Amino acid sequence: MVTENLKNSRVTSAAVEPMFVERWSSKAFADKPLTDDQIAALFEAAHWAPSASNRQPWAFVYATDGPDRERFNSVLNENNRLWASGAAMIVFVFARTVDDEGNKIRTAHFDTGAAWMSLALQANRMGLNTRAMGGIDLEAAYDTADVPRATFETICAIAVGTRGTDADLHPRMVKQNFANDRKDVAEVVFKGKYTG
Ligand SMILES: Cc1cc2nc3c(=O)[nH]c(=O)nc-3n(C[C@H](O)[C@H](O)[C@H](O)COP(=O)(O)O)c2cc1C
Repeated sequence: MVTENLKNSRVTSAAVEPMFVERWSSKAFADKPLTDDQIAALFEAAHWAPSASNRQPWAFVYATDGPDRERFNSVLNENNRLWASGAAMIVFVFARTVDDEGNKIRTAHFDTGAAWMSLALQANRMGLNTRAMGGIDLEAAYDTADVPRATFETICAIAVGTRGTDADLHPRMVKQNFANDRKDVAEVVFKGKYTG
């Protein structure tokens, strides 16, 4: 069996908290439900994320099992459904882009991204795995989750659960399922002015 260490050989160029490189998005999930306490902790972490004017413009709608979960699975594209249907929970992430006065919330996507990352890091600290999915039917997500189109934008879905092994994956996906690398920091960070 391939072990976690062989799947994650990330090396950093500066000392950082291990959670930043330990978190990676496996497609393999063990057949194990999440407890209510685990689910509560994940969304608790997400909702402490910072946001412009503390507007907290995110909305998370989740399903674990039963008819709700079947509806949620049907919103995922075929490739994503192949692995994500094995996760204990699917979360649809929405950003509120229009406020009560009809004004655009310019930073809604940015703020919602911070909340997703908080959830992902909390999951990692709890020994859980997350993988986000943009490959979903963005329109269908509104009706599936009963979220109003006029004020929210569908961002993505997230699969959450206990990390599985290669045995939990469709054989076609095993080879690409490892912790990937990043660009050099110098390609995305600039002192004084952009020189990219
Ligand atoms: C907004 C977003 C959308 C993504 N969409 C998909 C997707 O549709 N299918 C998939 O398998 N992975 C998807 N991913 C996972 C990324 O490919 C993955 O996060 C990236 O390669 C970095 O790998 P890591 O999360 O393991 O560090 C998505 C990630 C994000 C943040």
